[in-house]
Amino acid sequence: MPRARGGCGLPSREPAAPFLVGFTAYKGGTGKSTVAFNVGLEFARYYQGFDGVPRRPVVFFDLDPQGRSDEGGRTLKKMFEDGPFRLRSLHSPIPELDVQVVEYDPDEPVPVDGVNGSFGSYGLVDSDASFAPALLAVPKNIRIRRVKPLRRLLAAANELLFQYLEDRGSLDSKLREYLSSPPLGVVDTPPMNAASDTFAGILTQVDLVIPVVDPENVRQLSLFCKLYVTRLAVVNRVPPDGLTREAKFFDGVLNRILNKIPLNKDEVVKIPERPVIRFASALGIPVRARPDKRHSGYFREVARHIRADWNRRRYGSGVRI
Ligand SMILES: Nc1ncnc2c1ncn2[C@@H]1O[C@H](COP(=O)(O)OP(=O)(O)OP(=O)(O)O)[C@@H](O)[C@H]1O
Ligand SMILES: [Mg+2]
Repeated sequence: MPRARGGCGLPSREPAAPFLVGFTAYKGGTGKSTVAFNVGLEFARYYQGFDGVPRRPVVFFDLDPQGRSDEGGRTLKKMFEDGPFRLRSLHSPIPELDVQVVEYDPDEPVPVDGVNGSFGSYGLVDSDASFAPALLAVPKNIRIRRVKPLRRLLAAANELLFQYLEDRGSLDSKLREYLSSPPLGVVDTPPMNAASDTFAGILTQVDLVIPVVDPENVRQLSLFCKLYVTRLAVVNRVPPDGLTREAKFFDGVLNRILNKIPLNKDEVVKIPERPVIRFASALGIPVRARPDKRHSGYFREVARHIRADWNRRRYGSGVRI
């Protein structure tokens, strides 16, 4: 295989532009981290089929120092630490960020007191599940105000992963192909009511901002549309049965809001409240890795929208990645 600049061994096909997506919410507990985690991992799938989402190296940026909601709010870092993943620190090329490789491993122990066994041994993850290694970046200094260090890490991500996998002798042809494509950056930020000034700047500099609101607060979508160019939003934890009075009420409110803001109905992805999502998220398990993985379809839908937006950014309409 031809060698790339600097002899790093990446295939010579020049990766096109990386893409940076920021998840945001007005308040804690809307499911921002759960959505960021699962949507990012939709791109990091390994042996599983295409399903409309291309495989991409993924860099998770955890800019939320702590989950804030009373309801067991999670950070991306905590989800990877608790879940079926092995984390290994890398020498970070970016002074502002600590960087770890996260590798899916169903043999990791379940982090629950009194439980002695792995995710795999308890059947908490499906035996077919597989994910490509990704990067997790956490600021050394939480006052990162600009997106530049994030972009610099994204630019270095493929080579970092390549070196790591080559050193461990685990670089197969599939991973080589995967590392020849541009990486996706997934940013989780604290809720705006907790840290608006610090993170508002970052969110104006990412390629796509995705607000995550709960059904009671769909009105907040107009706030996000004023603050950012919003082309996609998630309403998470909607009542699962679309026919209940509650669900109809939220739909009515959402429709009225959509008449007033520059988002179309198909640019709002609704994710229902599901015990499997709550359970998986509490243990850091990607919903896609669960035996009941059909519920990952909602996250895949968000991923397909991201892909479409990424395509438009890079080539104008019509050309696909
Ligand atoms: N669709 C869903 N169905 C059921 N439970 C969900 C769903 N989405 C998220 N949850 C649960 O809601 C809680 C809050 O989710 P999460 O921690 O992802 O929110 P957050 O916005 O990141 O919160 P924080 O701001 O506190 O970090 C978690 O317990 C999570 O498991
Ligand atoms: Mg969170």
